[in-house]
Amino acid sequence: MEKMPYTADMDRALAVLDQQPETTSVVTTDWKTGLPVLTGTRVTLRELRVSDARSLFAMLTTEEVSRFISPPPTTVEGFERFILWANRERAAGNYACFAIVPQGMDTAVGLFQIRQLEPGWGTAEWGFALGSAYWGTGLYAEGAELVLDFIFNTMGVHRLEARAAVQNARGNGALRKLGAVQEGILRRSFLRNGEYMDQALWSILAEEWRIAQIPVSATIH
Ligand SMILES: CC(C)(COP(=O)(O)OP(=O)(O)OC[C@H]1O[C@@H](n2cnc3c(N)ncnc32)[C@H](O)[C@@H]1OP(=O)(O)O)[C@@H](O)C(=O)NCCC(=O)NCCS
Repeated sequence: MEKMPYTADMDRALAVLDQQPETTSVVTTDWKTGLPVLTGTRVTLRELRVSDARSLFAMLTTEEVSRFISPPPTTVEGFERFILWANRERAAGNYACFAIVPQGMDTAVGLFQIRQLEPGWGTAEWGFALGSAYWGTGLYAEGAELVLDFIFNTMGVHRLEARAAVQNARGNGALRKLGAVQEGILRRSFLRNGEYMDQALWSILAEEWRIAQIPVSATIH
């Protein structure tokens, strides 16, 4: 379905939103007691399980996946500890981490992480990583749409940030194609393998994202 670009006439688009209150309402599900399962056609997002540790270790510790992200755990046991930590932080309401599970599989091949940048989740930051065998398959794009809906409509985030090393062409490309706006460059903000890298700061605002969900046909009279 063709979607409305962020540059569209805001007044006209907001008027359409007014007529569709269900698209703007924030669901008050208490995700802190357990993340919901988000189901797409080719991917399911769900809470991490300790049994995902082996698969995540295999998927996320390769050089091509990990070169531009904070160093992942270096052992299966390290991933198990990370999963237990993630579930504790979710219960505390500080953080959420969805496992990316392809259709027909049972284990995670990647992650979407979200953390609050201020108490109350007005602003938050997300990050993601996927095993390279699944790059370019559409799994990321579908999963991202599901998780963005959760972030804006369930968590109630109004501004979502992401940081990507400027050399990370795929990471920046993935954010750009979702409609994220690049706001600037954070100079020498990320230390990896003893080298400081510049990062691009990207954001998505809840109202822009909601407008982008409206089919273009809904605003043409
Ligand atoms: C980031 C990640 C989850 C995205 O998943 P993916 O399946 O690779 O993403 P997609 O293929 O759907 O989208 C990437 C986009 O970048 C584009 N891209 C790839 N290489 C590019 C390059 N050299 N220059 C510009 N754009 C590029 C792709 O063409 C694609 O856009 P398109 O679908 O419009 O063609 C995955 O690449 C990954 O796990 N990378 C390692 C971890 C990481 O860097 N995480 C991001 C931290 S911000």
